[in-house]
Amino acid sequence: MNAANGSRYPATYAAWQKDPEAFWAEAAKAIDWIKPPEKIFDASQGVYGRWFAGAECNTCWNAVDRHVATRGDQAAIIYDSPVTGAKKKISYRELRDDVAALAAVIKAQGVTKGDRVIIYMPMIPEAVMAMLACARIGAIHSVVFGGFAAKELATRIDDAKPKMILTASCGIEPGRVVQYKPLLDEAIELSSSKPSSVLLLQRPQAQATMMAGRDHDWADALATAKARGEAADCVAVAATDPLYVLYTSGTTGKPKGVVRDNGGHMVALLWSMKNLYGVDPGEVYWAASDVGWVVGHSYIVYGPLLHGCTTIVYEGKPVGTPDPGAFWRMISEYNIQTLFTAPTAFRAIKKEDPNAEHLKKYDVKCLRALFLAGERADPDTVQWAENILGVPVIDHWWQTETGWAIAGNPLGLGALPVKHGSPTVPMPGYDVQIVDEGGKPVAAGKMGSIVVKLPLPPGCLPTLWQQDDRFKESYLDAFPGYYNTSDAGFVDQDGYLFIMGRTDDIINVAGHRLSTGGMEEVLASHPDVAECAVIGIKDALKGEQPCGFIVLKAGVNRLPTEIEKEIVALVREKIGPVAAFKIAITVNRLPKTRSGKILRGTMKKIADNDAWSMPATIDDPAVLDEIENALKQKGIA
Ligand code: COA
Ligand code: AMP
Repeated sequence: MNAANGSRYPATYAAWQKDPEAFWAEAAKAIDWIKPPEKIFDASQGVYGRWFAGAECNTCWNAVDRHVATRGDQAAIIYDSPVTGAKKKISYRELRDDVAALAAVIKAQGVTKGDRVIIYMPMIPEAVMAMLACARIGAIHSVVFGGFAAKELATRIDDAKPKMILTASCGIEPGRVVQYKPLLDEAIELSSSKPSSVLLLQRPQAQATMMAGRDHDWADALATAKARGEAADCVAVAATDPLYVLYTSGTTGKPKGVVRDNGGHMVALLWSMKNLYGVDPGEVYWAASDVGWVVGHSYIVYGPLLHGCTTIVYEGKPVGTPDPGAFWRMISEYNIQTLFTAPTAFRAIKKEDPNAEHLKKYDVKCLRALFLAGERADPDTVQWAENILGVPVIDHWWQTETGWAIAGNPLGLGALPVKHGSPTVPMPGYDVQIVDEGGKPVAAGKMGSIVVKLPLPPGCLPTLWQQDDRFKESYLDAFPGYYNTSDAGFVDQDGYLFIMGRTDDIINVAGHRLSTGGMEEVLASHPDVAECAVIGIKDALKGEQPCGFIVLKAGVNRLPTEIEKEIVALVREKIGPVAAFKIAITVNRLPKTRSGKILRGTMKKIADNDAWSMPATIDDPAVLDEIENALKQKGIA
């Protein structure tokens, strides 16, 4: 390990290695426990053990109520919405009062500890309040990203079986109002597990039709609860009880319900705020993401609020709302010290304003660091961001499953020298190893599967929602004793990690995690399609974009271009606009091995203009020429 610059990282990581339980026991002192843990780690509980067994706590208390005495007037949330023109500051005191009243409204609908509540909302402060209100009464929230279509929402409703759904009449994308209510009604119609009530926030941009008996008006219910002085208290939950379930793409169309507990989650996030992000309570921390993603859960909502920071709810884009200076305006207007976003946002800004002319209009001296995650941070983008901002640009690597960084450059402990293309080093809690197919460690510099020795640290998923077997099968069976990240990469001589790509069919489009398997299910459902394959191909802006190949059924004599248009529309309808599925290509056949496996990897290399060699097991090599020609005709490859 290169410790030449005096960072406290090597000593901190070594302290964790020497005694993990003592390390996390120390970190846990930052939490207000209702009942302290009986055991820091109990190996006999759960699938691979549980953190802070026997403890009781409340996440909402730690994120909101406990700050009221010391920082009641400080802004907890700053809402800035260039798409509506709205701006608002909500103090910790106001947040506590709103959340307590909202929690009373939810409780009045019969929701109690352990019940699930789905939150399908745009980037408005009420989405954050909804999450905290659930946490307050021990209900388990499951936030569904607004860019998902009705069918995706229905799949999540079926799995989580929520008693209640919290939503808004619409979200706003540049140039279009996305009506949520028709999508929600359709999803409930499609699902076999109907929620008993819906609480809906009417926004001025769209008026939703309410269903008598089931649907309740958010503003009315909240005003009534406040007028009556109704406020729900924070209830005690077990540290090991679920705080939330967040669905993420798996290798099939059925998403995985990642479970996050209360105790370990708080301990890990709080540790990361100071030691990884280098942030102090009272500072302004902005994760420019969406509450529908894990980055939003951990670093728009829970991390900054647990730490007593001001967090930002931004309803806009890095470009086009109104221009590529949007982020710089935010930083200067709100005195933002730390920005966290996906590299794709910076690629979008760079594309529209390569010389950063817009930056000249703003004073962004307050910014101390830029953190990037969600996809590989390409060195060009990192370099550009460093040049224009003059602050450390820190790539860090994590997953929905882990909830916080597996690897990063710990600014709070003293940053290590940056190597472009690497998210630097494992965080304490993670024993990261690179192994071959047989699970044997490989030499420095050699590519392999990236695995983490069990147990995973606090904050990581203990299981999948009511699916211990799927959890074991998806993550633990491939390399016994280790968690399989499904990422591939290597460690260099200095111990720096390099994350090179997924080992499964997950692709990463504009920092959004998508399953090509899920898209193939949609393509295959088209009546004219006999066979299909979806791959992720390189995209200069979004990192990757999906590209679908279809083989038509014999006897179909419609125009392929017509069918391709229908396929594009079908993916948008079934998965949602966020899939960004724009390329469908009709081919006569797909390249396969002699045993019938589709050669997706080779197709991807051809599409990406990467070097490729003829797979020894290919059934008919001529098919690859056909694929190359088809790609060329579409202007790809
Ligand atoms: N509700 C409804 N639709 C949504 C949506 C939401 N919450 N979020 C995105 N969409 C739609 C977009 O409008 C777009 O629709 P279109 O096909 O009609 O144009 C589609 O989904 C694809 O969205 P996206 O991939 O985000 O592309 P974009 O062209 O709108 O914006 C970027 C490109 C780079 C500016 C944008 O992707 C971005 O800001 N990314 C930041 C990454 C990020 O926040 N990642 C989260 C993890 S950190
Ligand atoms: P998600 O669960 O949506 O956060 O996506 C997790 C996946 O995104 C990881 O498994 C990686 O494939 C990818 N990813 C996230 N952060 C990085 C990073 N810093 N570098 C490379 N890949 C990343």
